[in-house]
Amino acid sequence: MPQSNVLRRDEEPLAAPAQSFEIRALPGPLGAEIIGLDLGRELSPEDFARVRKAHLDHHLLVFRDQRITPQQHIDFSRRFGRLMIHVLHQFHLPGHPEILVVSNIVEDGKPIGLGDAGKYWHSDISYKPLPSLGSLLHAQELPAEGGDTLFANMHLAYDTLPPALRSAIEGRTAVHSYLAKYGQLQKQGNWRPNLSARQLAQVQEVSHPVVRTHPENGKRALFVSEGFTTRIEGLPEDESRQILEALFAHSVRPEHIYRHRWQPHDLVFWDNRSLIHLAAGTPDHLRRKLYRTTIEGDKPF
Ligand code: SIN
Repeated sequence: MPQSNVLRRDEEPLAAPAQSFEIRALPGPLGAEIIGLDLGRELSPEDFARVRKAHLDHHLLVFRDQRITPQQHIDFSRRFGRLMIHVLHQFHLPGHPEILVVSNIVEDGKPIGLGDAGKYWHSDISYKPLPSLGSLLHAQELPAEGGDTLFANMHLAYDTLPPALRSAIEGRTAVHSYLAKYGQLQKQGNWRPNLSARQLAQVQEVSHPVVRTHPENGKRALFVSEGFTTRIEGLPEDESRQILEALFAHSVRPEHIYRHRWQPHDLVFWDNRSLIHLAAGTPDHLRRKLYRTTIEGDKPF
């Protein structure tokens, strides 16, 4: 009998079939590669659970060879939570405000994306009361050289803190500000527009614990970065600066870092509660374009 694709009223829709894919831990302090999974297809509940667990275990997943559309990128990201809309609406992908275009490409004299995104170590959107759970960055156009992204494991950074530094930050909170480096970035290049009153209202500074507990795996992590953290509250300015400088330097010791060398169609999904990251830079004459979604997380504690 020929099979019909039409569902009878009493039939359940067929669950997405499982895909056969491999999870390979990367050598070093964080990360795993996912080989053979197509994020353009709906994931079965089992496949989704494997991906989620791998993300928690390794803090960063590299999904190789993802030939997906912006909408598929958004749909996959949404399975982990609400998506954040970046304050720089100038660099949203047209028709898809959930996607921030990260690019050094200038067309008709206008940048198509944020060319200096990630120039300082940071955790995405830590300047909001609900910072990001994680970000998904999808390669669209890659330079022949340069353009790497570095990630530092902030659980390891916390675990290996010298005891004096650890006790200096015990129970402390710090201020995070989107504007901390904004003026400096404006002077260094032509990527940053002046912010409107409406944009400024969206980026009021906030205070977060210096050490946070990951809400899903219970591990402690340092939660400060040179990009957005301006001062430790309740300490004299010079002491706060000295401690922050020591924390920044310790966080990015070579043994805490994974360097991602992009391959065509890579999609990298990292945990902003566990890692900070840095764009290592692209030679000016080479083009680089990536699309980023950012998932909202919980209030740090
Ligand atoms: C970012 O900080 O989200 C951008 C990182 C990169 O361009 O490598």
